[in-house]
Amino acid sequence: MKKTVLVSGGAGFIGSHVTVELAQAGYDVVIADNFSNCDDTNYKGVCAILGREMPLVRMDFCDKGAVDALFGKYPIDAVIHFAAFKAVGESVSEPLKYYRNNLVSFVNILDAARAKGGCNVLFSSSATVYGQTDDLPVTERSPRQPAESPYGNTKTVCEDILRDSVRAYPGMRGIALRYFNPIGAHPSALIGELPRGVPNNLVPFITQTAVGKRACLSVFGNDYPTPDGTCLRDFIDIVDLAKAHVCAVGRMCDARMKESYEVFNVGTGRPLSVLELINTFEQVNDVKLNWKFAPRRPGDVVAIWADPTLAEQELGWKAERSIADTLKAAWAWEKKLCM
Ligand code: UD1
Repeated sequence: MKKTVLVSGGAGFIGSHVTVELAQAGYDVVIADNFSNCDDTNYKGVCAILGREMPLVRMDFCDKGAVDALFGKYPIDAVIHFAAFKAVGESVSEPLKYYRNNLVSFVNILDAARAKGGCNVLFSSSATVYGQTDDLPVTERSPRQPAESPYGNTKTVCEDILRDSVRAYPGMRGIALRYFNPIGAHPSALIGELPRGVPNNLVPFITQTAVGKRACLSVFGNDYPTPDGTCLRDFIDIVDLAKAHVCAVGRMCDARMKESYEVFNVGTGRPLSVLELINTFEQVNDVKLNWKFAPRRPGDVVAIWADPTLAEQELGWKAERSIADTLKAAWAWEKKLCM
């Protein structure tokens, strides 16, 4: 029997790529989104890639009645929860906006799942929960650090809410995937990252600078204790990352979990500096990028990259795409947006 997966925030950057991979793996997918932080470009791209209209519900997960109605309407076997705010800086100036949206929406989903007698729930967490650790590469056993921002704190708290819920309510199983730095776009260039306003993240800022939308990229900090003085990150291809969700959903739905709540890193295991990423982008795409050094950005960790061994052993997943292919896909997507 085909399983049905609800993807909250399914019209966003990660949600759209996950929807494509799930549908191609044979799942029925229901996309739900309130379009508060995106338009319907990625939704249309998902339908174009899959060659059919995908079920779409326009709704806000903070609306408990709407969430309950959704669970009443569809036979949901698993939920993947992406619908959340994600701007680190904004979360510092507007913490309540972040706590309300990111926590209430998740509580509503878990409550609806509990009421129907249980469900498999995948939470999209972040490597931000590790803070700056000396345990590099970082494993899932590494302790979480107090969050640097309300955004980061919502990731930590939602992990705990999921862990406590699966312990307490029969029929609930949960997986938290801790993403490192998701970048790139679908090879079709039909879906990708669409930040509103000035991008906070590195790769959209690079592609927008390369295409002339931004005058100059600032590289935040050149005096970090790293080989070239810039921060080290684990940049993970968005399609690779999406495939990890298919493995995790399969593990939950087929009852292959070792414990009712599990956590996995989703990264490559390969650290890359900000400068290395910029140089590779220029090289593989044959473009010259206008960039300059700027002061450190408050809240940035010096270096973090994943030990992805557990995901490989337990989920049977590992990152496959090269950084060159990922940065070519990011560039193809940006150019397509300008056409
Ligand atoms: C941030 C969030 C992380 C979230 C991720 C989503 C924190 C501390 N970080 O990660 O939780 O999951 O985004 O993608 O909560 N950089 C520049 N110039 C720019 C932009 C970035 O030099 O214009 C540098 C940053 O200083 C950093 C690196 O590029 O060293 C990566 O930055 P970014 O893409 O914003 O991701 P993170 O901060 O690692």
